[in-house]
Amino acid sequence: MIKNIQEANVKNKVIVLRLDLNIPYSNGKSGDISRIERSKKTIFFLTQSDNKVVILSHFGRPNGKTSKVFSLKNIMGHLEEVIGIKITFLPSHDIEKCKKKINTSPFPSVFLLENVRFSKLEETNDPYFSLQLASLGDVYCNDAFSVSHRAHASTQGITNYLPSFAGFLVQNELKALTKALDHPLKPVTAIVGGSKISTKIDILNNLSDKVDFLVIGGAMANTFLDAKGYRIGTSLTEKNMLRTAEAIIQNLDSKKCTLVLPRDIVCAKSLEIDADINIFSVDCCPADKMILDVGPQTEKIMIDVISKSKTLIWNGPLGAFETPPFDRGTNKIATYVAKRTLEGQINSIAGGGDTLSALKASGSESKFSYVSTAGGAFLEWLEGKSLPGIESLK
Ligand code: 3PG
Repeated sequence: MIKNIQEANVKNKVIVLRLDLNIPYSNGKSGDISRIERSKKTIFFLTQSDNKVVILSHFGRPNGKTSKVFSLKNIMGHLEEVIGIKITFLPSHDIEKCKKKINTSPFPSVFLLENVRFSKLEETNDPYFSLQLASLGDVYCNDAFSVSHRAHASTQGITNYLPSFAGFLVQNELKALTKALDHPLKPVTAIVGGSKISTKIDILNNLSDKVDFLVIGGAMANTFLDAKGYRIGTSLTEKNMLRTAEAIIQNLDSKKCTLVLPRDIVCAKSLEIDADINIFSVDCCPADKMILDVGPQTEKIMIDVISKSKTLIWNGPLGAFETPPFDRGTNKIATYVAKRTLEGQINSIAGGGDTLSALKASGSESKFSYVSTAGGAFLEWLEGKSLPGIESLK
Protein backbone atom coordinates (compact mmCIF):
# COMPACT_ATOMS: atom_id res chain seq x y z
CA MET A 1 0.00 0.00 0.00
CA ILE A 2 1.16 3.51 -0.75
CA LYS A 3 1.38 5.74 2.28
CA ASN A 4 -0.26 9.14 1.91
CA ILE A 5 1.22 12.35 3.32
CA GLN A 6 -1.79 12.77 5.67
CA GLU A 7 -0.62 9.60 7.46
CA ALA A 8 2.81 11.06 8.17
CA ASN A 9 1.46 13.40 10.89
CA VAL A 10 4.21 15.88 10.25
CA LYS A 11 4.61 19.02 12.35
CA ASN A 12 7.79 21.10 12.77
CA LYS A 13 9.64 18.81 10.39
CA VAL A 14 11.59 19.40 7.21
CA ILE A 15 9.81 17.78 4.25
CA VAL A 16 11.67 17.09 1.02
CA LEU A 17 8.91 17.54 -1.57
CA ARG A 18 9.43 16.31 -5.16
CA LEU A 19 7.31 18.33 -7.58
CA ASP A 20 7.24 18.36 -11.36
CA LEU A 21 7.70 22.04 -12.20
CA ASN A 22 8.67 21.12 -15.75
CA ILE A 23 6.20 23.45 -17.46
CA PRO A 24 6.38 24.50 -21.12
CA TYR A 25 8.86 27.40 -21.37
CA SER A 26 10.55 29.00 -24.33
CA ASN A 27 12.25 32.34 -25.08
CA GLY A 28 11.67 33.48 -21.51
CA LYS A 29 7.94 32.82 -21.67
CA SER A 30 6.03 30.17 -19.70
CA GLY A 31 3.17 28.16 -21.16
CA ASP A 32 0.51 26.26 -19.26
CA ILE A 33 1.18 26.38 -15.49
CA SER A 34 -1.33 23.67 -14.45
CA ARG A 35 1.42 21.51 -12.98
CA ILE A 36 2.37 24.35 -10.64
CA GLU A 37 -1.25 25.05 -9.72
CA ARG A 38 -1.93 21.41 -8.93
CA SER A 39 1.05 21.33 -6.52
CA LYS A 40 -0.58 23.95 -4.30
CA LYS A 41 -2.61 21.63 -2.08
CA THR A 42 0.35 19.64 -0.79
CA ILE A 43 2.48 22.74 -0.16
CA PHE A 44 -0.40 24.34 1.80
CA PHE A 45 -1.01 21.17 3.78
CA LEU A 46 2.63 21.02 4.81
CA THR A 47 3.13 24.69 5.60
CA GLN A 48 -0.16 24.97 7.50
CA SER A 49 1.09 22.33 9.91
CA ASP A 50 4.24 24.39 10.46
CA ASN A 51 6.78 22.46 8.44
CA LYS A 52 9.69 23.59 6.34
CA VAL A 53 9.26 22.44 2.74
CA VAL A 54 12.29 21.87 0.52
CA ILE A 55 11.08 21.52 -3.08
CA LEU A 56 13.03 19.42 -5.57
CA SER A 57 12.24 19.43 -9.28
CA HIS A 58 13.77 19.06 -12.70
CA PHE A 59 13.22 21.58 -15.49
CA GLY A 60 13.85 20.47 -19.05
CA ARG A 61 16.69 18.18 -20.04
CA PRO A 62 19.98 19.97 -19.22
CA ASN A 63 21.96 16.69 -19.41
CA GLY A 64 23.83 17.13 -16.16
CA LYS A 65 25.07 20.63 -17.01
CA THR A 66 24.27 23.93 -15.33
CA SER A 67 22.54 26.38 -17.65
CA LYS A 68 20.54 29.60 -17.22
CA VAL A 69 17.87 28.42 -19.64
CA PHE A 70 17.05 25.43 -17.46
CA SER A 71 17.27 27.23 -14.12
CA LEU A 72 14.23 26.80 -11.91
CA LYS A 73 14.66 30.47 -11.02
CA ASN A 74 12.97 31.21 -14.38
CA ILE A 75 9.65 29.90 -13.12
CA MET A 76 9.95 30.35 -9.36
CA GLY A 77 7.83 33.53 -9.61
CA HIS A 78 4.84 31.49 -10.84
CA LEU A 79 5.11 29.17 -7.87
CA GLU A 80 5.35 32.09 -5.43
CA GLU A 81 2.31 33.70 -7.03
CA VAL A 82 0.27 30.49 -6.92
CA ILE A 83 1.03 29.69 -3.27
CA GLY A 84 1.29 33.30 -2.07
CA ILE A 85 4.34 32.43 0.04
CA LYS A 86 7.88 33.80 -0.33
CA ILE A 87 10.28 31.09 -1.46
CA THR A 88 13.99 30.94 -0.65
CA PHE A 89 15.95 29.78 -3.68
CA LEU A 90 18.84 27.37 -3.05
CA PRO A 91 21.03 28.07 -6.08
CA SER A 92 23.66 25.36 -5.69
CA HIS A 93 23.71 21.66 -4.87
CA ASP A 94 26.23 22.30 -2.08
CA ILE A 95 24.12 20.35 0.41
CA GLU A 96 25.90 21.65 3.54
CA LYS A 97 25.25 25.25 2.48
CA CYS A 98 21.61 24.40 1.79
CA LYS A 99 21.21 22.77 5.19
CA LYS A 100 22.61 25.86 6.93
CA LYS A 101 20.01 28.05 5.21
CA ILE A 102 17.21 25.63 5.99
CA ASN A 103 18.22 25.20 9.65
CA THR A 104 18.43 28.94 10.33
CA SER A 105 15.01 29.74 8.87
CA PRO A 106 11.75 29.81 10.88
CA PHE A 107 8.85 27.30 10.69
CA PRO A 108 7.05 27.31 8.27
CA SER A 109 9.23 28.20 5.24
CA VAL A 110 9.50 27.08 1.64
CA PHE A 111 12.74 26.48 -0.29
CA LEU A 112 13.37 25.58 -3.91
CA LEU A 113 16.56 23.72 -4.79
CA GLU A 114 18.05 24.45 -8.22
CA ASN A 115 17.21 21.95 -11.04
CA VAL A 116 18.18 18.47 -9.81
CA ARG A 117 19.16 17.55 -13.39
CA PHE A 118 22.09 20.03 -13.21
CA SER A 119 23.77 17.08 -11.52
CA LYS A 120 24.66 14.09 -13.69
CA LEU A 121 23.94 11.93 -10.65
CA GLU A 122 20.20 12.62 -10.74
CA GLU A 123 19.38 10.60 -13.84
CA THR A 124 21.83 7.80 -12.97
CA ASN A 125 19.93 7.42 -9.70
CA ASP A 126 23.22 7.66 -7.85
CA PRO A 127 22.95 6.41 -4.23
CA TYR A 128 25.28 9.11 -2.87
CA PHE A 129 23.31 11.92 -4.54
CA SER A 130 20.05 10.32 -3.34
CA LEU A 131 21.42 10.24 0.21
CA GLN A 132 22.55 13.87 -0.04
CA LEU A 133 19.09 14.97 -1.16
CA ALA A 134 17.55 12.89 1.62
CA SER A 135 19.80 14.57 4.20
CA LEU A 136 17.98 17.87 3.53
CA GLY A 137 14.96 16.73 5.53
CA ASP A 138 13.16 14.28 7.80
CA VAL A 139 10.43 13.01 5.47
CA TYR A 140 10.07 12.64 1.68
CA CYS A 141 6.88 13.39 -0.22
CA ASN A 142 6.41 12.62 -3.92
CA ASP A 143 3.88 14.91 -5.60
CA ALA A 144 5.34 14.55 -9.07
CA PHE A 145 3.29 11.82 -10.74
CA SER A 146 4.33 13.06 -14.19
CA VAL A 147 7.99 12.16 -13.63
CA SER A 148 7.37 9.01 -11.58
CA HIS A 149 8.13 6.82 -14.61
CA ARG A 150 11.80 7.85 -14.18
CA ALA A 151 13.92 5.94 -11.66
CA HIS A 152 16.00 8.98 -10.72
CA ALA A 153 17.68 10.02 -7.47
CA SER A 154 14.94 12.53 -6.55
CA THR A 155 12.05 10.24 -7.52
CA GLN A 156 13.23 6.79 -6.52
CA GLY A 157 16.71 6.64 -4.92
CA ILE A 158 15.80 9.07 -2.16
CA THR A 159 13.03 6.77 -0.90
CA ASN A 160 15.74 4.38 0.32
CA TYR A 161 16.80 6.93 2.92
CA LEU A 162 13.65 8.65 4.19
CA PRO A 163 10.12 7.68 5.25
CA SER A 164 8.27 8.32 1.98
CA PHE A 165 4.70 9.41 1.23
CA ALA A 166 2.46 10.40 -1.70
CA GLY A 167 1.26 14.00 -1.99
CA PHE A 168 -2.28 14.98 -2.95
CA LEU A 169 -1.62 15.31 -6.68
CA VAL A 170 -0.13 11.80 -6.83
CA GLN A 171 -3.07 10.50 -4.80
CA ASN A 172 -5.58 12.11 -7.18
CA GLU A 173 -3.80 10.82 -10.29
CA LEU A 174 -3.66 7.28 -8.92
CA LYS A 175 -7.29 7.35 -7.85
CA ALA A 176 -8.50 8.60 -11.24
CA LEU A 177 -6.29 6.32 -13.32
CA THR A 178 -7.05 3.20 -11.28
CA LYS A 179 -10.77 3.89 -11.46
CA ALA A 180 -10.58 4.21 -15.25
CA LEU A 181 -8.45 1.23 -16.15
CA ASP A 182 -8.27 -1.22 -13.25
CA HIS A 183 -11.82 -1.03 -11.87
CA PRO A 184 -13.82 0.70 -14.60
CA LEU A 185 -17.55 0.88 -15.07
CA LYS A 186 -18.13 -1.02 -18.32
CA PRO A 187 -18.30 -0.69 -21.29
CA VAL A 188 -14.97 1.09 -21.68
CA THR A 189 -13.88 3.05 -24.76
CA ALA A 190 -10.29 4.09 -25.37
CA ILE A 191 -9.48 6.74 -27.95
CA VAL A 192 -5.88 6.55 -29.11
CA GLY A 193 -4.67 9.10 -31.62
CA GLY A 194 -1.44 10.84 -32.52
CA SER A 195 1.02 10.21 -35.25
CA LYS A 196 2.87 6.95 -34.67
CA ILE A 197 1.91 3.35 -33.97
CA SER A 198 5.57 2.60 -33.26
CA THR A 199 5.42 4.58 -30.01
CA LYS A 200 2.05 3.11 -28.95
CA ILE A 201 2.24 -0.64 -29.69
CA ASP A 202 2.42 -1.57 -26.01
CA ILE A 203 -0.50 0.72 -25.23
CA LEU A 204 -2.66 -0.81 -27.96
CA ASN A 205 -1.85 -4.34 -26.84
CA ASN A 206 -2.44 -3.60 -23.16
CA LEU A 207 -5.73 -1.81 -23.90
CA SER A 208 -6.97 -4.69 -26.04
CA ASP A 209 -7.27 -6.75 -22.84
CA LYS A 210 -9.09 -4.07 -20.93
CA VAL A 211 -11.42 -2.07 -23.17
CA ASP A 212 -14.53 -2.89 -25.19
CA PHE A 213 -14.05 -0.30 -27.95
CA LEU A 214 -10.74 0.95 -29.27
CA VAL A 215 -11.10 4.08 -31.39
CA ILE A 216 -8.05 4.93 -33.45
CA GLY A 217 -7.53 8.34 -35.03
CA GLY A 218 -4.77 10.70 -36.08
CA ALA A 219 -2.01 9.70 -38.48
CA MET A 220 -1.83 6.37 -36.58
CA ALA A 221 -5.12 5.40 -38.18
CA ASN A 222 -3.52 5.81 -41.64
CA THR A 223 -1.10 2.97 -40.92
CA PHE A 224 -4.04 0.74 -39.94
CA LEU A 225 -5.93 1.72 -43.12
CA ASP A 226 -2.76 1.09 -45.14
CA ALA A 227 -2.43 -2.36 -43.52
CA LYS A 228 -6.04 -3.13 -44.39
CA GLY A 229 -5.25 -2.41 -48.06
CA TYR A 230 -6.90 1.03 -48.44
CA ARG A 231 -5.13 3.57 -50.65
CA ILE A 232 -4.15 6.50 -48.47
CA GLY A 233 -2.68 8.94 -51.03
CA THR A 234 0.20 10.99 -49.66
CA SER A 235 -0.85 10.51 -46.01
CA LEU A 236 1.68 9.94 -43.26
CA THR A 237 2.08 6.20 -42.65
CA GLU A 238 4.68 3.88 -41.11
CA LYS A 239 5.44 1.31 -43.81
CA ASN A 240 7.62 -0.69 -41.42
CA MET A 241 4.65 -1.05 -39.04
CA LEU A 242 2.14 -2.61 -41.42
CA ARG A 243 2.73 -6.13 -40.10
CA THR A 244 2.45 -4.85 -36.54
CA ALA A 245 -0.83 -3.12 -37.38
CA GLU A 246 -2.16 -6.39 -38.87
CA ALA A 247 -1.12 -8.28 -35.74
CA ILE A 248 -2.84 -5.69 -33.53
CA ILE A 249 -6.05 -6.00 -35.57
CA GLN A 250 -5.98 -9.81 -35.16
CA ASN A 251 -5.26 -9.52 -31.47
CA LEU A 252 -8.21 -7.16 -31.00
CA ASP A 253 -10.49 -9.58 -32.87
CA SER A 254 -9.45 -12.47 -30.66
CA LYS A 255 -10.09 -10.40 -27.51
CA LYS A 256 -13.57 -9.29 -28.64
CA CYS A 257 -12.48 -5.66 -28.52
CA THR A 258 -14.18 -3.64 -31.27
CA LEU A 259 -11.80 -1.58 -33.37
CA VAL A 260 -13.19 1.69 -34.68
CA LEU A 261 -11.29 3.14 -37.64
CA PRO A 262 -12.23 6.11 -39.86
CA ARG A 263 -15.02 5.40 -42.38
CA ASP A 264 -14.74 8.79 -44.04
CA ILE A 265 -11.80 11.13 -44.16
CA VAL A 266 -11.04 14.84 -44.52
CA CYS A 267 -8.31 15.28 -47.12
CA ALA A 268 -6.22 18.07 -48.64
CA LYS A 269 -3.03 18.35 -50.68
CA SER A 270 -1.29 20.10 -47.80
CA LEU A 271 -1.86 21.81 -44.46
CA GLU A 272 -1.89 25.22 -46.20
CA ILE A 273 -4.80 27.52 -45.30
CA ASP A 274 -5.91 27.88 -48.94
CA ALA A 275 -5.66 24.14 -49.69
CA ASP A 276 -8.67 22.53 -51.34
CA ILE A 277 -10.34 20.43 -48.62
CA ASN A 278 -12.73 17.53 -49.38
CA ILE A 279 -14.41 14.68 -47.55
CA PHE A 280 -14.16 11.20 -49.06
CA SER A 281 -15.25 7.73 -48.18
CA VAL A 282 -12.28 5.84 -46.71
CA ASP A 283 -11.91 3.78 -49.89
CA CYS A 284 -11.68 6.85 -52.16
CA CYS A 285 -8.65 8.79 -50.93
CA PRO A 286 -7.17 10.56 -54.00
CA ALA A 287 -3.56 9.68 -54.88
CA ASP A 288 -2.38 13.29 -54.50
CA LYS A 289 -4.10 14.09 -51.17
CA MET A 290 -3.46 13.29 -47.54
CA ILE A 291 -5.81 12.37 -44.69
CA LEU A 292 -5.87 15.14 -42.10
CA ASP A 293 -8.96 14.46 -40.01
CA VAL A 294 -11.86 12.07 -39.52
CA GLY A 295 -15.06 12.85 -41.43
CA PRO A 296 -18.64 13.44 -40.13
CA GLN A 297 -19.76 9.83 -40.64
CA THR A 298 -16.84 8.64 -38.49
CA GLU A 299 -17.71 11.24 -35.85
CA LYS A 300 -21.25 9.79 -35.71
CA ILE A 301 -19.90 6.26 -35.25
CA MET A 302 -17.55 7.44 -32.49
CA ILE A 303 -20.37 9.32 -30.77
CA ASP A 304 -22.52 6.20 -30.92
CA VAL A 305 -19.77 4.11 -29.29
CA ILE A 306 -19.16 6.74 -26.60
CA SER A 307 -22.90 7.02 -25.89
CA LYS A 308 -22.87 3.29 -24.97
CA SER A 309 -19.79 3.60 -22.74
CA LYS A 310 -19.51 4.32 -19.03
CA THR A 311 -15.75 4.94 -19.05
CA LEU A 312 -13.58 6.75 -21.58
CA ILE A 313 -9.80 6.94 -21.72
CA TRP A 314 -8.28 9.37 -24.23
CA ASN A 315 -4.75 9.81 -25.48
CA GLY A 316 -3.86 11.61 -28.70
CA PRO A 317 -5.78 13.88 -31.10
CA LEU A 318 -7.88 12.53 -33.99
CA GLY A 319 -6.49 14.80 -36.70
CA ALA A 320 -3.99 17.58 -37.43
CA PHE A 321 -5.69 19.59 -34.68
CA GLU A 322 -3.14 22.43 -34.58
CA THR A 323 -4.33 23.56 -38.03
CA PRO A 324 -8.04 24.38 -38.30
CA PRO A 325 -10.28 23.10 -39.81
CA PHE A 326 -8.51 19.77 -39.19
CA ASP A 327 -9.33 20.15 -35.48
CA ARG A 328 -13.01 19.56 -36.18
CA GLY A 329 -13.13 15.81 -35.42
CA THR A 330 -11.17 16.19 -32.17
CA ASN A 331 -13.30 19.17 -31.07
CA LYS A 332 -16.58 17.46 -31.88
CA ILE A 333 -15.70 14.30 -29.96
CA ALA A 334 -14.16 16.22 -27.03
CA THR A 335 -17.28 18.37 -26.76
CA TYR A 336 -19.51 15.29 -26.77
CA VAL A 337 -17.44 13.54 -24.09
CA ALA A 338 -17.55 16.73 -21.99
CA LYS A 339 -21.36 16.85 -22.31
CA ARG A 340 -21.77 13.17 -21.32
CA THR A 341 -19.45 13.75 -18.39
CA LEU A 342 -21.42 16.75 -17.14
CA GLU A 343 -24.62 14.69 -17.45
CA GLY A 344 -23.02 12.08 -15.19
CA GLN A 345 -23.15 9.41 -17.91
CA ILE A 346 -19.44 8.71 -18.31
CA ASN A 347 -16.19 8.76 -16.35
CA SER A 348 -13.72 10.48 -18.70
CA ILE A 349 -9.96 10.47 -18.27
CA ALA A 350 -7.44 12.07 -20.61
CA GLY A 351 -3.68 12.48 -20.59
CA GLY A 352 -0.56 12.95 -22.66
CA GLY A 353 1.00 16.18 -24.00
CA ASP A 354 -0.90 16.83 -27.24
CA THR A 355 -4.15 15.58 -25.77
CA LEU A 356 -4.22 18.35 -23.19
CA SER A 357 -3.54 21.05 -25.78
CA ALA A 358 -6.26 19.59 -27.99
CA LEU A 359 -8.81 19.41 -25.18
CA LYS A 360 -7.94 22.91 -24.02
CA ALA A 361 -8.36 24.26 -27.55
CA SER A 362 -11.82 22.65 -27.72
CA GLY A 363 -12.80 24.23 -24.39
CA SER A 364 -13.64 20.87 -22.84
CA GLU A 365 -10.59 20.15 -20.65
CA SER A 366 -12.19 21.35 -17.41
CA LYS A 367 -15.34 19.29 -18.07
CA PHE A 368 -13.59 15.91 -18.21
CA SER A 369 -13.73 13.82 -15.01
CA TYR A 370 -9.94 13.93 -14.77
CA VAL A 371 -7.16 15.27 -16.93
CA SER A 372 -3.75 13.97 -15.99
CA THR A 373 -0.78 16.32 -15.66
CA ALA A 374 1.42 13.55 -17.05
CA GLY A 375 2.78 12.92 -20.55
CA GLY A 376 5.25 10.01 -20.58
CA ALA A 377 4.08 8.68 -17.20
CA PHE A 378 0.47 8.55 -18.45
CA LEU A 379 1.59 6.60 -21.52
CA GLU A 380 3.60 4.12 -19.44
CA TRP A 381 0.62 3.66 -17.16
CA LEU A 382 -1.55 2.96 -20.25
CA GLU A 383 1.05 0.38 -21.27
CA GLY A 384 0.43 -1.37 -17.96
CA LYS A 385 3.93 -0.68 -16.65
CA SER A 386 4.61 0.07 -13.02
CA LEU A 387 6.15 3.45 -12.30
CA PRO A 388 9.34 3.33 -10.16
CA GLY A 389 8.58 6.60 -8.35
CA ILE A 390 5.21 5.18 -7.28
CA GLU A 391 6.40 1.62 -6.59
CA SER A 392 8.98 2.95 -4.16
CA LEU A 393 6.25 4.57 -2.05
CA LYS A 394 4.81 1.14 -1.28
C1 3PG B 1 7.29 15.48 -18.48
O1 3PG B 1 7.23 16.66 -18.83
O2 3PG B 1 6.69 14.56 -19.08
C2 3PG B 1 7.99 15.17 -17.21
O3 3PG B 1 8.39 16.32 -16.56
C3 3PG B 1 9.16 14.23 -17.45
O4 3PG B 1 10.14 14.86 -18.19
P1 3PG B 1 11.24 13.98 -18.95
O5 3PG B 1 10.53 13.29 -20.09
O6 3PG B 1 12.28 14.95 -19.39
O7 3PG B 1 11.76 12.97 -17.96
